[in-house]
Amino acid sequence: MIYSITTHSAEETLEFGSLLAKYLRDGDLIALFGDLGSGKTCFTQGVCNGCGIQEPVTSPTFTLINEYSNSNSIYHFDFYRIGSEDEVYGLGYEEYFYGTGICLIEWADRVLNFLPANRIEIHMENLFEQGKEFSRKIEIRFIGAEMQQRNWAEMFENVEHEKSGIES
Ligand SMILES: Nc1ncnc2c1ncn2[C@@H]1O[C@H](COP(=O)(O)OP(=O)(O)OP(=O)(O)O)[C@@H](O)[C@H]1O
Ligand SMILES: [Mg+2]
Repeated sequence: MIYSITTHSAEETLEFGSLLAKYLRDGDLIALFGDLGSGKTCFTQGVCNGCGIQEPVTSPTFTLINEYSNSNSIYHFDFYRIGSEDEVYGLGYEEYFYGTGICLIEWADRVLNFLPANRIEIHMENLFEQGKEFSRKIEIRFIGAEMQQRNWAEMFENVEHEKSGIES
Protein backbone atom coordinates (compact mmCIF):
# COMPACT_ATOMS: atom_id res chain seq x y z
CA MET A 1 0.00 0.00 0.00
CA ILE A 2 1.30 3.42 -0.93
CA TYR A 3 -0.36 6.30 0.85
CA SER A 4 -0.45 9.79 -0.49
CA ILE A 5 -1.39 13.01 1.24
CA THR A 6 -1.30 16.64 0.20
CA THR A 7 -0.33 19.39 2.61
CA HIS A 8 -1.11 23.05 1.96
CA SER A 9 1.36 24.75 4.29
CA ALA A 10 4.58 24.06 6.16
CA GLU A 11 2.47 23.74 9.32
CA GLU A 12 0.47 20.88 7.82
CA THR A 13 3.67 19.09 6.84
CA LEU A 14 5.02 19.54 10.37
CA GLU A 15 1.76 18.20 11.73
CA PHE A 16 1.93 15.09 9.57
CA GLY A 17 5.54 14.46 10.64
CA SER A 18 4.57 14.66 14.25
CA LEU A 19 1.62 12.31 13.73
CA LEU A 20 3.89 9.74 12.06
CA ALA A 21 6.32 10.08 14.96
CA LYS A 22 3.70 8.64 17.32
CA TYR A 23 3.76 5.38 15.36
CA LEU A 24 7.53 4.95 15.14
CA ARG A 25 9.49 2.28 16.96
CA ASP A 26 13.10 2.16 18.08
CA GLY A 27 15.36 1.45 15.14
CA ASP A 28 13.01 2.80 12.46
CA LEU A 29 14.53 4.54 9.47
CA ILE A 30 12.82 7.18 7.35
CA ALA A 31 14.32 7.84 3.92
CA LEU A 32 13.33 11.21 2.44
CA PHE A 33 13.27 11.91 -1.30
CA GLY A 34 12.41 15.12 -3.12
CA ASP A 35 13.85 18.20 -4.81
CA LEU A 36 15.39 21.22 -3.13
CA GLY A 37 12.79 22.96 -1.00
CA SER A 38 10.23 20.18 -1.22
CA GLY A 39 9.92 20.05 2.58
CA LYS A 40 12.23 17.25 3.75
CA THR A 41 13.65 19.29 6.63
CA CYS A 42 10.20 20.62 7.48
CA PHE A 43 8.84 17.07 7.72
CA THR A 44 11.87 16.04 9.80
CA GLN A 45 11.17 18.91 12.20
CA GLY A 46 7.65 17.56 12.60
CA VAL A 47 8.89 14.06 13.39
CA CYS A 48 11.36 15.47 15.94
CA ASN A 49 8.63 17.57 17.57
CA GLY A 50 6.44 14.48 17.74
CA CYS A 51 9.28 12.63 19.44
CA GLY A 52 9.50 15.37 22.05
CA ILE A 53 12.66 17.08 20.81
CA GLN A 54 12.72 20.69 22.05
CA GLU A 55 15.85 21.98 20.36
CA PRO A 56 15.71 23.56 16.89
CA VAL A 57 16.03 21.11 14.00
CA THR A 58 18.05 22.36 11.05
CA SER A 59 19.62 20.58 8.12
CA PRO A 60 23.07 19.19 8.92
CA THR A 61 24.35 20.34 5.56
CA PHE A 62 27.99 20.74 6.49
CA THR A 63 28.26 17.94 9.03
CA LEU A 64 26.15 15.24 7.28
CA ILE A 65 24.58 14.29 10.60
CA ASN A 66 22.83 15.92 13.55
CA GLU A 67 21.89 14.03 16.66
CA TYR A 68 18.98 14.88 18.93
CA SER A 69 17.97 12.91 21.94
CA ASN A 70 15.49 12.55 24.70
CA SER A 71 14.27 9.02 25.50
CA ASN A 72 15.73 7.76 22.22
CA SER A 73 18.33 9.13 19.83
CA ILE A 74 17.30 10.68 16.55
CA TYR A 75 19.89 10.88 13.80
CA HIS A 76 19.20 13.41 11.08
CA PHE A 77 21.30 13.02 7.93
CA ASP A 78 21.56 15.22 4.86
CA PHE A 79 23.46 13.64 1.99
CA TYR A 80 23.04 16.47 -0.52
CA ARG A 81 26.76 17.15 -0.53
CA ILE A 82 27.99 13.60 -0.21
CA GLY A 83 31.01 13.14 -2.46
CA SER A 84 31.57 9.40 -2.52
CA GLU A 85 30.51 6.15 -0.92
CA ASP A 86 33.71 6.26 1.12
CA GLU A 87 32.23 9.15 3.07
CA VAL A 88 29.26 6.99 4.00
CA TYR A 89 31.58 4.21 5.20
CA GLY A 90 33.62 6.85 7.02
CA LEU A 91 30.53 7.89 8.98
CA GLY A 92 30.12 4.38 10.32
CA TYR A 93 26.63 4.37 8.82
CA GLU A 94 25.80 0.84 10.00
CA GLU A 95 25.72 1.87 13.62
CA TYR A 96 23.04 4.39 12.79
CA PHE A 97 21.04 2.78 9.98
CA TYR A 98 20.93 -0.60 11.73
CA GLY A 99 20.97 0.65 15.33
CA THR A 100 18.23 1.34 17.87
CA GLY A 101 17.86 5.07 17.27
CA ILE A 102 15.52 6.66 14.76
CA CYS A 103 17.11 7.80 11.50
CA LEU A 104 15.80 10.50 9.18
CA ILE A 105 17.73 10.76 5.92
CA GLU A 106 17.45 13.69 3.51
CA TRP A 107 18.57 12.99 -0.08
CA ALA A 108 18.23 9.26 0.56
CA ASP A 109 18.58 8.63 -3.19
CA ARG A 110 22.30 9.30 -2.75
CA VAL A 111 22.70 6.41 -0.29
CA LEU A 112 20.19 3.92 -1.70
CA ASN A 113 22.68 1.04 -1.56
CA PHE A 114 23.11 1.50 2.17
CA LEU A 115 19.47 1.60 3.23
CA PRO A 116 18.01 -1.27 5.24
CA ALA A 117 15.41 -3.56 3.68
CA ASN A 118 12.75 -2.36 6.12
CA ARG A 119 12.20 1.37 5.97
CA ILE A 120 9.68 4.13 5.51
CA GLU A 121 10.10 6.15 2.35
CA ILE A 122 8.72 9.67 2.12
CA HIS A 123 8.63 11.09 -1.39
CA MET A 124 7.91 14.82 -1.48
CA GLU A 125 6.91 16.84 -4.48
CA ASN A 126 6.17 20.53 -5.00
CA LEU A 127 2.80 21.11 -6.62
CA PHE A 128 3.11 24.01 -9.01
CA GLU A 129 -0.51 24.38 -10.04
CA GLN A 130 -1.74 27.93 -9.97
CA GLY A 131 -2.51 29.15 -6.49
CA LYS A 132 -0.94 26.11 -4.90
CA GLU A 133 2.58 27.30 -4.17
CA PHE A 134 2.36 25.96 -0.66
CA SER A 135 1.09 22.53 -1.59
CA ARG A 136 3.23 19.46 -1.37
CA LYS A 137 2.35 15.95 -2.43
CA ILE A 138 3.73 13.48 0.10
CA GLU A 139 3.83 9.83 -0.81
CA ILE A 140 4.50 7.35 1.98
CA ARG A 141 5.81 3.92 1.06
CA PHE A 142 6.38 1.17 3.58
CA ILE A 143 9.21 -0.99 2.35
CA GLY A 144 10.00 -4.50 3.58
CA ALA A 145 7.77 -7.24 5.00
CA GLU A 146 8.21 -6.25 8.64
CA MET A 147 7.40 -2.62 7.98
CA GLN A 148 4.36 -3.49 5.89
CA GLN A 149 2.89 -5.70 8.60
CA ARG A 150 2.48 -2.83 11.01
CA ASN A 151 -0.82 -1.08 11.47
CA TRP A 152 -0.38 2.03 9.37
CA ALA A 153 -4.04 2.26 8.43
CA GLU A 154 -4.78 3.58 11.91
CA MET A 155 -2.32 6.41 11.47
CA PHE A 156 -3.87 7.41 8.15
CA GLU A 157 -7.29 7.52 9.71
CA ASN A 158 -5.90 10.33 11.86
CA VAL A 159 -4.53 12.37 8.96
CA GLU A 160 -6.67 15.45 8.52
CA HIS A 161 -5.35 16.57 5.14
CA GLU A 162 -6.28 15.49 1.65
CA LYS A 163 -5.30 11.85 1.41
CA SER A 164 -5.62 8.71 -0.60
CA GLY A 165 -4.42 5.14 -0.40
CA ILE A 166 -3.05 3.54 -3.51
CA GLU A 167 -3.02 -0.23 -3.67
CA SER A 168 0.20 -1.67 -5.01
N1 LIG B 1 3.20 22.26 2.29
C1 LIG B 1 4.47 22.55 2.65
N2 LIG B 1 5.25 21.62 3.26
C2 LIG B 1 6.52 21.88 3.58
N3 LIG B 1 7.15 23.05 3.36
C3 LIG B 1 6.43 24.01 2.76
C4 LIG B 1 5.07 23.82 2.39
N4 LIG B 1 4.62 24.95 1.83
C5 LIG B 1 5.64 25.80 1.84
N5 LIG B 1 6.73 25.26 2.42
C6 LIG B 1 8.03 25.94 2.56
O1 LIG B 1 8.96 25.27 1.73
C7 LIG B 1 10.23 25.24 2.33
C8 LIG B 1 10.67 23.80 2.51
O2 LIG B 1 11.98 23.82 2.92
P1 LIG B 1 12.75 22.58 3.49
O3 LIG B 1 14.04 23.10 3.97
O4 LIG B 1 11.91 21.77 4.42
O5 LIG B 1 12.97 21.71 2.15
P2 LIG B 1 14.04 20.58 1.92
O6 LIG B 1 13.37 19.56 1.06
O7 LIG B 1 14.61 20.11 3.19
O8 LIG B 1 15.13 21.34 1.07
P3 LIG B 1 16.68 20.96 0.86
O9 LIG B 1 16.72 20.03 -0.30
O10 LIG B 1 17.32 22.26 0.56
O11 LIG B 1 17.18 20.31 2.11
C9 LIG B 1 10.09 25.95 3.68
O12 LIG B 1 10.45 27.30 3.52
C10 LIG B 1 8.61 25.85 3.96
O13 LIG B 1 8.11 26.91 4.76
MG1 LIG C 1 16.58 19.99 3.91
